[in-house]
Amino acid sequence: MPSETDEQIDLSRLPRHIAIIMDGNGRWARQRGLPRIAGHREGINSVRAVVEECRRLGVGHLTLYAFSYENWKRPEEEVNALMTLLAEYLKREKQELIENQIRLSAFGETSLLPQQAQEALQDVIDATEDLDAMRLNLALNYSGRRELVRAAKRIAVMYASGKLDLANLDEALFSSFLYSFDQPDPDLLIRTSGELRVSNFLLWQIAYTEIWVTQIFWPDFRKEHLREAILAYQARSRRFGSVDE
Ligand code: FPP
Repeated sequence: MPSETDEQIDLSRLPRHIAIIMDGNGRWARQRGLPRIAGHREGINSVRAVVEECRRLGVGHLTLYAFSYENWKRPEEEVNALMTLLAEYLKREKQELIENQIRLSAFGETSLLPQQAQEALQDVIDATEDLDAMRLNLALNYSGRRELVRAAKRIAVMYASGKLDLANLDEALFSSFLYSFDQPDPDLLIRTSGELRVSNFLLWQIAYTEIWVTQIFWPDFRKEHLREAILAYQARSRRFGSVDE
């Protein structure tokens, strides 16, 4: 069902892939005198709203930075609460994802997540692997630099076993060793809460990505903010190192 505000969005020029650094959960909670985890909990409602809106508009790929490799440095209580929220989200949303033909994937070193979170994740990944209306990628225990090192190691192993001719190693082949191997690079990167950093997110994949930063804290981010970001993206001229016509 198209909505009134869709009018301005050019559905023929949607970003194919949107990546989001969901930031500001802690500040949102502090502003309200609540524990940080209350911000993460409300942030799940933002996740739901954004997934729904991307699916409705026809954005093919959405990648959410849910837990970075560096996030283990947070207090144990917060890490545990985040992992519990993740498992709950996955169990609760499984059916919704299936009904909407959304395939879930994970980017990151997920074998180091707590057992309960790993099981919930694998269950939804398996249950949605043949769906193709949209891809939802959760970056979990993710580090952009570690992803690149992992790719380099995998390439070295292939080379050592004689299965790789270095003359064939180009950008496309290198990309095939990343978590995003079968998906396009993000066209649009959204960061909430005003920070002007990339924070080790998708370092290779965002080489030409348009970045849009909003002051809104992630728990307040809703579909109207997503639409605002898409409109801003559509107003930009993407040159990829070339010049305008
Ligand atoms: C950043 O806010 C947010 C995170 C580190 C976690 C994001 C996680 C969620 C939204 C919930 C789980 C996600 C899914 C997909 C189930 P912050 O805590 O760094 O905020 P601050 O900078 O204001 O302290």
